[in-house]
Amino acid sequence: MSTAPEGHGGTPAIRVKGAMLIRPMEGRDIPAVASLDRQVFRDPWPESAYVQELYFNTNAHYFVLELLDPAQARTWHTHRRRQSARLIGFVGMRVEGTQGHISTLALRPEWRGQRLGEALLLTAIDQAICDGARMVGLEVRVSNEVALNLYSKWQFVQYSRLHRYYADGEDAYLLHVYLEKDPDYPPRVRTRLLELMADLEIRPVGLGGVPADMGRSAP
Ligand SMILES: CC(C)(COP(=O)(O)OP(=O)(O)OC[C@H]1O[C@@H](n2cnc3c(N)ncnc32)[C@H](O)[C@@H]1OP(=O)(O)O)[C@@H](O)C(=O)NCCC(=O)NCCS
Repeated sequence: MSTAPEGHGGTPAIRVKGAMLIRPMEGRDIPAVASLDRQVFRDPWPESAYVQELYFNTNAHYFVLELLDPAQARTWHTHRRRQSARLIGFVGMRVEGTQGHISTLALRPEWRGQRLGEALLLTAIDQAICDGARMVGLEVRVSNEVALNLYSKWQFVQYSRLHRYYADGEDAYLLHVYLEKDPDYPPRVRTRLLELMADLEIRPVGLGGVPADMGRSAP
């Protein structure tokens, strides 16, 4: 493990190059995901919301970014601890008909500022494209400048402002990106995602359109 150059926020970021993977979220991830959700968001989802999404929402795709650890956990308790330690971030995408919706996106604070959030966002958009989405939308707090910058980098534009959308009274922006407006957008998403995976040495496993051998370092 090494300390990377300063991240976006000016805090040193942890970086374990070549030791990460992005894969579909599974039931065993839920305790760690919900714990990170509580750490990151003011209005976290309960574990039951993830159970609902993973097991009962056939339109939902959730992905985790985690540290690779070949060691297998022997007991449930060890297993829970290991999953927590290994989880770096997660993202959720629902695709209904031609509309995609990003339901969540979060990265552990100490891992931010090194394009891992962008890699997760593009994983979700790429999945929506594979599922036939023509637009992707999401809600974001009006004060969330970092996320707003990330979404605007990928051409999300403000569609409306949702008054007192959050439980604490803050407004949300509803953002949309129209995938069919620019025919280069889908290939740009895929190219950038593959670039990030190769550069950050993230292994994709079980993703919609990304071959599993991408992102590995050259032999
Ligand atoms: C939003 C979040 C996922 C971004 O992840 P990240 O890994 O830190 O971001 P990246 O390093 O991938 O940066 C991607 C883009 O985000 C923006 N960004 C990232 N950090 C930023 C910062 N400190 N200040 C301003 N913009 C920033 C930039 O546009 C950046 O692109 P650039 O490097 O070309 O300028 C992460 O900050 C997070 O988990 N935040 C808390 C949860 C949250 O707000 N989720 C979104 C809910 S809608």
